[in-house]
Amino acid sequence: SKQHIVNIVEVGPRDGLQNEKGAVIPVETKVELVERLVRAGVSNVEAGSFVSPKWVPQMGGTADVLKRLTKERGVHYSVLVPNQRGLDDLLLLLAQQQLTDLGSPPLTDEISVFVAATDAFNKANLNCTVPESLQKIAAVTEAATKHGLRVRGYVSVVIACPYSGRTDYHKVREVASALLNMGCYEVSLGDTVGMGRPHEVAEMLDVVKRSVPVEQLAGHFHDTYGTAIANVLTALEHGVRTIDASVGGLGGCPYSPGATGNVSTEDVLYALQGSQYHVAGRNGGTINLEEMVDIGWWISEKLGRESASRVGRALRAK
Ligand code: HMG
Ligand code: MG
Repeated sequence: SKQHIVNIVEVGPRDGLQNEKGAVIPVETKVELVERLVRAGVSNVEAGSFVSPKWVPQMGGTADVLKRLTKERGVHYSVLVPNQRGLDDLLLLLAQQQLTDLGSPPLTDEISVFVAATDAFNKANLNCTVPESLQKIAAVTEAATKHGLRVRGYVSVVIACPYSGRTDYHKVREVASALLNMGCYEVSLGDTVGMGRPHEVAEMLDVVKRSVPVEQLAGHFHDTYGTAIANVLTALEHGVRTIDASVGGLGGCPYSPGATGNVSTEDVLYALQGSQYHVAGRNGGTINLEEMVDIGWWISEKLGRESASRVGRALRAK
């Protein structure tokens, strides 16, 4: 049967670490995490956020992470940017680096922007309504594109919202279309709360696909209710070919109370082994499952707990 290429966006260093309570994770640990992920074959990695450190303290050191990372060719080290201030900070950093390290590769070539499908969640996460966010993001996307950055968009709470209940999938479609129209190359659909069921993901995708090409969609599933891997498979069956995942199942959104991490990268790799879905890794290679299991354990132990990846736990117990 036909082979399908699946891309993974590793969000552990951003979505995974942003919600950690307690001591701020050292920059060296974050750098080591990103570098290890890339060595294991990851080609798209979210390295951090240029958000307010008052809102999300763990992402405060992202500029230092970008500066210290040893960059590999063919890898996108993206950063989450919430507003013009975040983009300005990033552009200044890029300009400074070009002056001091002539000829070296840029610190990053990609940002991601984010907006919710409901006003209530958007206000909690970004302190403004969805239409206000879309207006701000349009300006950020235009400016970033002018500076040669590619822009990925996120829509949050695509299935359910912690503040307003079930999400209207037509809203998801509207917001996803708006992001693509303003120049995002891809839109990642987030089940932020992690309570989506496969049949709901299927319904949501059916609605969104009516006006958005499925080639430009990605799936971003949190695993609060244990349905994330089933939702990944559902998204793949519906033609989605890019999946966001987090090593060790790290993560959660600070503004979605009780939500757990993303689907773990190890679990996605394991579930797709030997199937019609081939996970593409860096430079035409693959992503090494055993290395990802080790990284998931290593970072989880740094955070004082065991790996939350089911496959990571099973393989470690062998
Ligand atoms: P605000 O309070 O409306 O902003 O927050 P403001 O413009 O009034 O600024 C307030 C203060 O923040 C000021 O400092 C600004 O300078 C500073 P002060 O004068 O009080 O000292 N500030 C910044 N500092 C650093 N970087 C910036 C920045 N912007 C303002 N970029 C704001 C608005 C956007 C800043 C705030 O709401 C924020 O940072 N939100 C980020 C929330 C966040 O990171 N959430 C988690 C990521 S999204 C997610 O996890 C979902 C996703 O995974 C998909 C899914 O699962 O659904 C992507
Ligand atoms: Mg998320």
